[in-house]
Amino acid sequence: MTDARSRLIVALDHPDRASALRTVHRLSGRVGYFKLGLEIFVREGPRLVEEIRDTGERIFLDLKLHDIPNTVAGAVRSACKLGVKMLTVHAAGGRHMLEAARAAAEGSPEPPLLLAVTALTSLSAEDISSLGVNGSPAEWVAVLAGIANQAGLRGLVASPLEILRLRAAFGTEMRLVIPGIRPGGAATQDQSRTAEPRAAILAGADFLVIGRPILQAADPAQAADKIVAEIEDALRERSRIQEPSASG
Ligand code: C5P
Repeated sequence: MTDARSRLIVALDHPDRASALRTVHRLSGRVGYFKLGLEIFVREGPRLVEEIRDTGERIFLDLKLHDIPNTVAGAVRSACKLGVKMLTVHAAGGRHMLEAARAAAEGSPEPPLLLAVTALTSLSAEDISSLGVNGSPAEWVAVLAGIANQAGLRGLVASPLEILRLRAAFGTEMRLVIPGIRPGGAATQDQSRTAEPRAAILAGADFLVIGRPILQAADPAQAADKIVAEIEDALRERSRIQEPSASG
């Protein structure tokens, strides 16, 4: 699988097993990971995770865990037994919860990349301020990301608008997984803090999470291929920018 393909995560936001499996079959080999979130997990449970995993696909289990440390640690242990490669917890659960989650993941034979969700990409500046948070979304994301970093997590979920700041704060060791991606002209739907794939990669995203722009396309495989081509171009451009020029 090419580097560009492995960076595309498709959100299997489907109501049932049959439609999720249809997407997996259509996109198999074209994308890096399939993300199973609350909608499908609540309906189909761990058996579907195992079924997709057993076809050789890499799974990102997006349960956005947020509870007391002991409960979250137990849920992380259970998720690790499913052989998932990425797993989300909410940074807002606080440092102790995140540390418990990390310890639980590290206790598994093949720890997944544990990702801290900062502020949901659907939250606007007004939404965040109505939660009683002072400061901009970017400042709130930076606070939550700092807590996750202190707890030893090595991955963050944030919007495209926060990538530059997070990269500058945490360097290249921190994996940045970015939803809220809208290819040229696509409707933003319920997302607020969005960008196109190219812009997110140029800013320093490691992985892009994309759902509806692929799932609702007339031809999902073609839509995925088009996004992969855009990622590939942007990666090339990014490495050109990062390389010191010969002329100094
Ligand atoms: O359809 P769309 O491309 O908006 O899907 C984005 C996916 O990313 C959804 O599955 C959503 O749950 C997930 N996500 C997000 N914002 C976060 C974390 C995850 O949109 N902060």
